[in-house]
Parts: sequence; C-alpha cells; structure tokens
Amino acid sequence: MTIQFNDETFRDDYTFTNSERAIKRFPFPFHEDSYMYSVNMEQHQGGPEGSIYEKRFDVDEHYISEMKDRALVLDEDPLRCQSLPHMTLAGWDLLELIMVSKSEDYPDLFELHRDGNNWHWINKPLGIEQKFVFMDESTLPYGPMEYITRQTQGDFALLDQRDENLWMDAGTVTTQADWSLDFDIGMNFFEWHAPVPLAAEMGVFKRALKFLLNIQQGMPARRLNWTMTVNPLLDTSPENYHKWGVQKTTLTPENVGQKQYLRVELQTFFRLPRSNGMVFPIRCYLISLEDLVTIPKWGRRLHRVIRDVPEELATYKGFIDNRPLIVDYLSKFDDGAPTSDGV
Ligand code: HEM
Repeated sequence: MTIQFNDETFRDDYTFTNSERAIKRFPFPFHEDSYMYSVNMEQHQGGPEGSIYEKRFDVDEHYISEMKDRALVLDEDPLRCQSLPHMTLAGWDLLELIMVSKSEDYPDLFELHRDGNNWHWINKPLGIEQKFVFMDESTLPYGPMEYITRQTQGDFALLDQRDENLWMDAGTVTTQADWSLDFDIGMNFFEWHAPVPLAAEMGVFKRALKFLLNIQQGMPARRLNWTMTVNPLLDTSPENYHKWGVQKTTLTPENVGQKQYLRVELQTFFRLPRSNGMVFPIRCYLISLEDLVTIPKWGRRLHRVIRDVPEELATYKGFIDNRPLIVDYLSKFDDGAPTSDGV
C-alpha cells in the first residue's frame, strides 16, 4: 500500500491531522471500562493487515513530519540523543534491525543492499541515499543509533543488560511523555521507574523486568501505555515544560474536543544480537477526542476509564486538573450501554 504522507506540524500552529484510515487503525488501549497498571505484555509477531502491529516498525502518514520535528528538537537540544561509549555496538545492532526490517516490510519505501560490510541504504520518503561500511562510524554522518533514529518514528531507549538488570545507557528521545533521557541516562530499570505511583508496590516492575531479561533474539514483545496531551504535541519533555505545561490551562468546554488528545504509546522490546543489549522503541500515536468519539464504543469506554482512573494515576499522567472538563465532554458520548471486551 502506498502511504500518502501528511505535511503537518506538532508545534506552533498544530496542523497535525489524522485521516479516516489513521483513526480506524488507532491503537485504542482499553480492553475494559476501567484501567490499572499491569504487566500487559505480549509477543510482537505481527498483527492484522493494516493494523499498527502488522510490521516490526510501523510507518504511517505522519512519518515525514515526525522526522522533521525530531530534527528541530535535536537542533535545539543535542542532549536528547546520547550514547555512552560502550553502547556503540548496540547502536549498530539497532541500525541493522531497523534497516533490515524496514526494507523487508516496506520494499517500496526502503531498500538495503549489502555486499559484505559495504551497505547501501535508500530511504525514499526522506530522499536519503547512503553508502557506508557497516561497523565503521566514520562512513556515516552521525553515530549509528542517531543515524537510524533520525529516520524512524518513535523514541528509542537502548539498554545494556548486566547484573540481572537493564541500564538506560543510550537513546534518542524527542517525543516523550514527560521524562528525560538526560536525567535517566545511566539509571537501571527500578531507578528510572521510581516516579511511577502504585506500580512498584503491586510488583509490576519486578515481574516486568524478569520478562524482559528473558526476551530472546527474534522474539520481540510489546505493550501499550497511554496518557493525555493538550494539543498534538510530540515533544512533551521536562526540558520544554515551560512551553507546553501552560497549554494545559487553555482547555475550555468549547475547545476540549479539538484540543485534548489521547496519547498512546506502542512500546516494543527487541533483543540485540551482538551486544546482547535491548532496544525499547516507544512509538507515540495521537488522537483528538473529537476524532476518537467517531467510534462510539471508544467514546463510551474512554468516558468511564477517565472518570474512574485512580487519582494517583490522573495526577502522574498530568490531567487531574482537566479531568472534570474531559469527563463532562465525554459523558455526552456515553449512553450507558455495555461495552464488549477487547474494543
Ligand atoms: C513509565 C521507561 C519497560 C511500565 C516509564 C518511564 C520511563 C520508562 C522513562 C517514565 C518514568 C518517569 O515518570 O520519569 C521504560 C523502559 C522500559 C520500560 C526504557 C524498557 C526496558 C516497562 C515495562 C513495563 C513498564 C515492561 C510493564 C509494566 C511502566 C509504567 C509507567 C512507566 C506503568 C507509568 C506510565 C504512565 O502512567 O503513563 N517507563 N519502561 N515499563 N513504565 Fe516503563
């Protein structure tokens, strides 16, 4: 299928839009009328045709514009991309994983030609053609991780595995839900998760880490996470909180449908072959409430979830002050009918 790429912005005038197709394939994350943290992980071995799960790295209509936004963030703040010296090998593993996956999954958009270590990469949507020597950094304009993540939607945490733990020792993070790579770099799984309420007490992180440490090559896993964002902003980082935090105060009953977005992250986990590290891509999907309620069962269910989500979670996710406005808007789309499972 040929993708029609949008020309849109995630800042200033916010021209971001979702086509009807993008709305239909949106990863609505709730399988029941309430939400609590859990170890919601499953294998990442494809999914229904056209769904966001079908390919290893989903490319959609937002691709080109998201890559422009990433370049802007990195221009302003180079610390959004960091790699500790021992992570270069994992960076090559990641470059290989993405180039091979994209060229196999989207042969009309990406090509990879390999002759020993002499590689030729063609990225048609971004108009990039690069000949380079695999494992020789001097033949690429950036380090391997930065090179490939400037061409791939979603944030990337690159993790070293040692001492029965995962360490966030590299990453490219420009579209995050209010956490900072610069702050977290060098931390382990329990340390970077410390701000999350309730989950540690429930044993979620202990069990999740055990699962992750056992992920084998070729057997990736995935989970969904979600939050709420005012305006279709990709870069909701602590570094730029002074720019976007204040926008949360601009919601009104009249504009909440257009300005309030549900933000869903498709998080995947891949074991890397040479470094035995792990990559954690976090792919962000945004949908306005106005678009979301065009699917009636989603509108009904989101109303119930947001209304009842524990206060600690609404506070951590940053929408506690706007919750009454959001619930009031969504209540108009909830006729009280039962929702079936697996919506
Ligand atoms: C939140 C990273 C895997 C559950 C977070 C945060 C980071 C993060 C940076 C934000 C913490 C903050 O507020 O500063 C990662 C990385 C992972 C990973 C790099 C892969 C190694 C997992 C897994 C689970 C999980 C497997 C399974 C349950 C959560 C939860 C939150 C969270 C529940 C709170 C999210 C929210 O309420 O919006 N994670 N995580 N994480 N993580 Fe992870």
